[in-house]
Amino acid sequence: MELDIKVPQHVTIIMDGNGRWAKMRGEERLFGHKAGTDSVRACVEYAVEKGIRYLSLFAFSEENWERPAAEVEGLMQLMLKAILEETPLFQKNGIRFRVIGDFSRLSDKLKCEIDECMKLTEQNGVLDLIVFLSYSGKWDILQAVNRYIADNKDDLRPITADTISSYLSTAGIPDPDLLVRTSGEQRISNYMLWQTAYTEYYFTEVLWPDFRKPHFQAAIEAFSRRDRRFGKVK
Ligand code: FPP
Repeated sequence: MELDIKVPQHVTIIMDGNGRWAKMRGEERLFGHKAGTDSVRACVEYAVEKGIRYLSLFAFSEENWERPAAEVEGLMQLMLKAILEETPLFQKNGIRFRVIGDFSRLSDKLKCEIDECMKLTEQNGVLDLIVFLSYSGKWDILQAVNRYIADNKDDLRPITADTISSYLSTAGIPDPDLLVRTSGEQRISNYMLWQTAYTEYYFTEVLWPDFRKPHFQAAIEAFSRRDRRFGKVK
């Protein structure tokens, strides 16, 4: 029987374990990343079914640029393929597709397809699917501070937390309520450092390519049992 669960507004996932999943099968790492796209589809479907309003995914970190060129290129190709194939489904299901990160390192072709998909789905309001690509939390804070300085260089004054939030690349998106990380690793890996100040963490041993709706459901149920006090007394 399904419990009466509290559905988080924003769930973010650090998709981890693709390489290990592939290695266990004697395959190249890219095989695991390809399998991981099926998990992405399952999670998007689950999010729509449950009325989760924002689903964000850490797909590629700034640090991931240091991986072997073939893996980086393969991951970028996968991203492009996913956008081209999934755009009609985003439209059909009311999904707004967004990508956040340092676009300066992406190929022109990928940037162009991302822009087109973001524009096309801009009015959709069922689910915001946010992919963090070429992203790191420290990069985000730095670009926020530097943009603030550029905008206010003639009249610099002490700023508030709200000002920082409004300059982050996630401005306007509510902070994540729940962060899921797969594959047994228990760290934040330079992800949304500012935005996860009061996020609930959920770690699972399941490798990302094996992560499906029942695993997502288990994470939501665990979240539902948490007592969130935001540093206050209830
Ligand atoms: C981490 O596993 C996973 C990644 C760096 C890439 C995640 C990307 C996808 C699943 C591609 C599809 C994404 C979208 C949004 C369409 P790892 O390689 O670090 O695994 P390991 O820790 O076992 O080596």
